[in-house]
Amino acid sequence: MTPFRFGVDYYPEQWPRARWESDAQLMREAGFNVVRLAEFAWARLEPQEGTFDFGWLDEAMAVLERHGIAVVLGTPTASPPPWVYAQNPAMFRTGPDGVRLPYGHRRGYSPHHPEYRAHARRVVTAMATHYAVHPAVLGWQIDNEFGDRDYGPAAQEAFGRWLQARYLTLGALNSAWGTEFWSHTYSAWSQIPTPLAHAAPHNPGLGLDFARFSSAAYAEFQGEQIEILRRLAPGQKITHNLMGFSPEQLDYFELARDLDWVSWDNYPRMWWNVYAGDDPARVALSHATMRGMKRQNFWVMEQQSGPGGWQMVVPQPRPGELRLWAMQAVAHGADGIVFFRFRTARHGAEQYWHGLLEHDGRPGRRYQEVKALGEEIAPLGTRLVGSKVQAPVAMLLSYEARFALQVQQNHPSLSYAEQFGYWYRALHTRNVGVDVLEPLEDLSGYALVIAPLLHVVSPEIAHALERYVHGGGTLVLTARSGVKDFENAVVDAPLPGLLRRLCGVQVEEYDSLIGLENGVTLEHGGKALTVNIWCDVLELEGAEVLGRYAHDYYAGRAAVTRHRYGAGQTVYVGALGDLALPEALTHWLLEQCNVQPLLETPPGVEATVRSSESGAFLFVLNHTQKSQTLRLPEPWQDAWGDTLILEPYGVRVLERVGVSQGVRVG
Ligand code: GAL
Repeated sequence: MTPFRFGVDYYPEQWPRARWESDAQLMREAGFNVVRLAEFAWARLEPQEGTFDFGWLDEAMAVLERHGIAVVLGTPTASPPPWVYAQNPAMFRTGPDGVRLPYGHRRGYSPHHPEYRAHARRVVTAMATHYAVHPAVLGWQIDNEFGDRDYGPAAQEAFGRWLQARYLTLGALNSAWGTEFWSHTYSAWSQIPTPLAHAAPHNPGLGLDFARFSSAAYAEFQGEQIEILRRLAPGQKITHNLMGFSPEQLDYFELARDLDWVSWDNYPRMWWNVYAGDDPARVALSHATMRGMKRQNFWVMEQQSGPGGWQMVVPQPRPGELRLWAMQAVAHGADGIVFFRFRTARHGAEQYWHGLLEHDGRPGRRYQEVKALGEEIAPLGTRLVGSKVQAPVAMLLSYEARFALQVQQNHPSLSYAEQFGYWYRALHTRNVGVDVLEPLEDLSGYALVIAPLLHVVSPEIAHALERYVHGGGTLVLTARSGVKDFENAVVDAPLPGLLRRLCGVQVEEYDSLIGLENGVTLEHGGKALTVNIWCDVLELEGAEVLGRYAHDYYAGRAAVTRHRYGAGQTVYVGALGDLALPEALTHWLLEQCNVQPLLETPPGVEATVRSSESGAFLFVLNHTQKSQTLRLPEPWQDAWGDTLILEPYGVRVLERVGVSQGVRVG
């Protein structure tokens, strides 16, 4: 039986030894059964090259073990000590501005630099050897939040090698990138630059390959550490702490492939989003994305435990919010919640990133709230773990498309993440479960698949989508799909390129709405909607019209179409704007696909179901500051009555034992 993992990120190296015992005591009282340790402790673990000190960590782990707390050990490679940097500053990254990072901050290293890789291998080997059979070790976290691209000499050299492995010959590369343009024909691998900002615009083929290469380098760096851990500490599970939906620089599917489980760092309230208001849909999208990485439940490895802040201090989580945010993660498939961090740091850049305990070590309100949450989660424990969120809708996340649109944004307001978010939000507010998947995932079983901005399309992707629709699925595609091939060249065919047959339309021409302040109006279902980013002017090739432009020189022409294909249908949304159009279409789409929202909730109240063979859990979460009343759906009424009243920020978890069959989850 796997217990639900509930715990905290802890930095014993930052506190006096005399405090460890009472810390562990408080952790146990809070119901914690896991602690993440050591991911920033390189300087203590290896004070000088090749001299290791595990004594303090052994002792800290022994204290925790005595209190029944297991450990996830972090490899400390995200923050090298100064002596590593001093050996060769060229191991550090260069930004897109061509300037190399000086020492400071963290994650300054270049993942490409062979000397840095050797340092990382040495410290990971020593840790893996020392902790290979430690009974308290539950698993490992590699590094910490991989991310930034390096544009410096180490990257340039590695990029050349990576391109050689991909294209084999310079002739193939020149032809794939079309380097005749501006005479960029390369005659040696070493001539190929990294895309520094001041030399932009770069060849789009180079731009997309550089993004892929940079992402692959972190997967390779991670892979090197995984190989060491699997060899020296076999059987111990491995994760990395990802960052949800928002990161733009890594192909998370690629990174997740080598991991045993996915975890991520969930900070619903940061200082830069305080004014925008907390947004349950944004956080839910991240949870769904993390669940989709391996189509498995996940952990939150860092769950916000207080006001965040480096230079700024954000408002306190209101009473009830810590529970609400943690329960939202559970509602979307988390089987482990680890709070960041235990005690608020007195020193360092994160003095104002508050933990559960205050600076002076007091267990205050936030600690008490988390302790109460521990008491609530413990009895659900093993029944909850492994139960699955059942989603009738899939959204396809293409990092290829996302990277290509970074190289050429097309329109200053066009953002892959935003467009993706609009569709997700339209489903989320209706309590329709969504899985976020790779474009080549098996889609059978989903009533509806939405793939916004599928800009880069391979023949395999086109065939997979055709198979899905042919077999009876409903697929939604948008403007700027099928525009590019995998080399980031524009396709030599009418748009949407390889998706044209499936869509039954051809893009006769397109109109980017830069500078058109009032946008373009279109009509769908008797309603007028305005879009302000993009309009495809569509010619029908078998599709029927669902929406027409009402404005400008293409008034009367098709904007949104539906094409019946095999047993299914493809909806092509030729206009891009804000949330309004996805909102308007979602209602119709759900009806078309016979997807029932889980239950109707007032704005700001979210509902999900997790189910397994032994039962089902309904989560209802009130993200608003006022109490909310709602009607429970049929199957839950017997046990719970038909009305549910939720206090401000309230959460209810309703369990039905042994009745997963028959519970409608879509
Ligand atoms: C995360 C990071 C932690 C800590 C936290 C608060 O992104 O993994 O180490 O820095 O943010 O800033």
